[in-house]
Amino acid sequence: MWLLDKFRRHGRARAIPEHVDLGISRLELKENYKLVEKYVVTNPHAQVLIYQDPEVGAGFHYFVREVDLNAVEFEKYDKLMKIFSKELEPPTDLEVDAATFVMEQAHRLLHEYQKSLGKLDKESWGRVLYFLVRNVAGYGALDPMIRDQQIEDISCNGLDKPIFVWHRKYESIPTNLLFNDERVYNDFIIKLAHKASKHISSANPMLDATLPEKHRMAATFQKEISTHGSSFCIRKFREDPISIVDQIGFGTMPPKLAAYFWTLLENRMNFMIIGGTGAGKTSLLNALLSLISPNEKVITVEEVAELNPPHENWVPLVSRKGFLFGSSGGTSIDLFDLVKLSLRYRPDYIVVGEVRGAEAFTLFQAIATGHGGLCTMHADTLDHVVKRLTSEPMNIAKVYIPLMNIALYVSRVELPFEKDGLKFGRRIRDVWEIEDFERYRVISSWDPKKDTYDIDLTKSVKLRHIAELKGLKFKDILKEVERREKLLTLMAKLNTRSQTEVVRRIQEYLKTGEISLFPNGVPDSRLEVAEVTVKGRKYKVWRYPKGGYDPETGQKVGGRIIKRG
Ligand SMILES: Nc1ncnc2c1ncn2[C@@H]1O[C@H](COP(=O)(O)OP(=O)(O)OP(=O)(O)O)[C@@H](O)[C@H]1O
Ligand SMILES: [Mg+2]
Repeated sequence: MWLLDKFRRHGRARAIPEHVDLGISRLELKENYKLVEKYVVTNPHAQVLIYQDPEVGAGFHYFVREVDLNAVEFEKYDKLMKIFSKELEPPTDLEVDAATFVMEQAHRLLHEYQKSLGKLDKESWGRVLYFLVRNVAGYGALDPMIRDQQIEDISCNGLDKPIFVWHRKYESIPTNLLFNDERVYNDFIIKLAHKASKHISSANPMLDATLPEKHRMAATFQKEISTHGSSFCIRKFREDPISIVDQIGFGTMPPKLAAYFWTLLENRMNFMIIGGTGAGKTSLLNALLSLISPNEKVITVEEVAELNPPHENWVPLVSRKGFLFGSSGGTSIDLFDLVKLSLRYRPDYIVVGEVRGAEAFTLFQAIATGHGGLCTMHADTLDHVVKRLTSEPMNIAKVYIPLMNIALYVSRVELPFEKDGLKFGRRIRDVWEIEDFERYRVISSWDPKKDTYDIDLTKSVKLRHIAELKGLKFKDILKEVERREKLLTLMAKLNTRSQTEVVRRIQEYLKTGEISLFPNGVPDSRLEVAEVTVKGRKYKVWRYPKGGYDPETGQKVGGRIIKRG
């Protein structure tokens, strides 16, 4: 209540959200900052503004701007919060979304306590409920960043230091928010840990966990192991995963490469994706999963659940650390145990999120006995990968190395030209076919000067091998890859992009072999139909939906006319 008195004493009509978020300060905007971009995150309550400091080269800043609460609104917010802390009932349905649940409860309490809460107009209640929901069910002042689709991760390195975000367009930039109160900051980290159903304390000062929305979170507590005090990093999970068609749209791979991967995966070839931190290895692996025939049985083995194959016959396995409270330590189950276990499930494909240790040995054994295998590995060169695979603790015999048929190197790169306003992108820099130990055949390489791919499928020994197995001619299999390239190009044009849509379209193709936009003369349902008048004559036209990408040029297609009636 003292805050409210303070407002009144100072006669301030409006408060800033700072008063709702004690212990967090908002940096002032400097006069010379230039606004670069502005967008809405939560309509109409939260906005993001990107500023550039002209004095520091490309010094971008991320400003969160939320609506204000005036003194009366703040009073209602305060009252409602107090009622909430006494009256909030636990949800009976544990699957319910926290924000929806809190909103429902808020409406219930608004009704029950309408006399003591008093009256406000609809918009004011909207503002009050916005702050209530974001503080009870969300991430408080950090909620707009969590909701911002442009943000890949959020990190805080200590008290009185700005929170940093990794923005798709501007990379790592400071925000205008910082924690200034140690108790609030530590409480926030404890709250994060609780959200993830985990525990963090001086006795257990390190945490690696998954938040309910599947964001990955790492944190340290107080000064036990991090000299600057508590810290955290939230790596955001995309609810709508990056599909193979998105990867084509982003330019991560051209349709031809995707068609080549599809043909290989259909024939149970084994892939290894290599790259550095945050290069996009896991996202690429997940996108490739949609190209494995839908009837295959897939087992994923991970430390943190990230993969989400569209297969019905899918067993997700996740490792766990032992419980070490008190004297009764439970057993740890690591990736090695899980890969071993997965063999008992008779899978067609075993997918290991990231290989680091002895599990690589088991994975190669599985591949040697005819299972398909996919994995990622943190490394920058193929030589390095093979050296690690063949030494302790992985210990894979050199003769086993060619069992991993394909290696891809994915990386975050600076682009020679901006693409869709982005200076950086993810690209599959190299694709190798592994013929033998230390004998690799380059199938595709990315040109950093032109942002183009140099692909030569006629060099592919794996496609040749598939052709032999199927009794086909090599040129026939190349033709099939070409047809698939056409289909994927078309899907990118039509923006057939979600993982489910991609799988449906691929299945359809496998059944009918149909690529046309007008199969049997019937236009694809995704085409837009419109009427145009040219020289006084009316025509019916079909266009690509707006916002699709032309994978050949990388341009937005924006309704190009493809047929006139
Ligand atoms: N092709 C892509 N285009 C644009 N953004 C991408 C692409 N691939 C991944 N991303 C984004 O990059 C971030 C990191 O992706 P991902 O987790 O796949 O990387 P990773 O290499 O597996 O990271 P780690 O080394 O931590 O395991 C995510 O936020 C993801 O949304
Ligand atoms: Mg990963």
